[in-house]
Amino acid sequence: MKSFIRSTQDLIRFLVVAAQDFARTGTLLPSTKAAGQAIASHLPTNKAVIVEYGSGSGAVVESILCRIDSESRLVGIEMNEKFFDILKKISDSRFLSVHQEVSLAAKNLKSFAASGVDAVVSGIPFSLIPKAERKSIVDDTFNGLKAGGVFIVYQYTPAMYKSLRSVFKTVEIHFEPRNIPPYFILVAKKQ
Ligand SMILES: C[S@@+](CC[C@H](N)C(=O)[O-])C[C@H]1O[C@@H](n2cnc3c(N)ncnc32)[C@H](O)[C@@H]1O
Repeated sequence: MKSFIRSTQDLIRFLVVAAQDFARTGTLLPSTKAAGQAIASHLPTNKAVIVEYGSGSGAVVESILCRIDSESRLVGIEMNEKFFDILKKISDSRFLSVHQEVSLAAKNLKSFAASGVDAVVSGIPFSLIPKAERKSIVDDTFNGLKAGGVFIVYQYTPAMYKSLRSVFKTVEIHFEPRNIPPYFILVAKKQ
């Protein structure tokens, strides 16, 4: 069990912040280590520029930083001030936390890599976001990715498949039973 779930301190820290902002967080628990590793397994690892939408307390950040090489970069976008304060304490020269709304970050993805980013990972609760904003985020993310880039969305339902498939040519759906509660990992590839 030790490698599967997080420490009680991590869980309580997340729970306290998430409960105060449930409408935007959409969950009370951070991703498990196993789920974070499953997400990271779909990412490029060498000299990659990766952006995460909704980094929370850094659960998936940790797994991504374990996977990417020393020349890769990870940007964590987070609008909750308390989660952002936690992210700011992550001391890794490859990681940058940005206190920003995802809809704005998505429009400006190329500010992180002029030719487009290699991957975007998203744990934001799309089901709680208005349809027009959801569509803009998907379209802007597609435009901000380089050819061959991936958009990875993890959610409790595969409902985002249709929106992703409307712009990405291929979208794989993976079920991840080792998260609490289990979720789906959708991997959309830009050709
Ligand atoms: C389901 S939690 C995921 C947290 C973390 N990535 C994990 O897997 O444990 C969603 C996170 O997205 C953030 N979030 C939701 N909507 C956002 C938005 N529009 N802009 C920036 N962050 C957002 C929330 O504050 C929360 O930290």
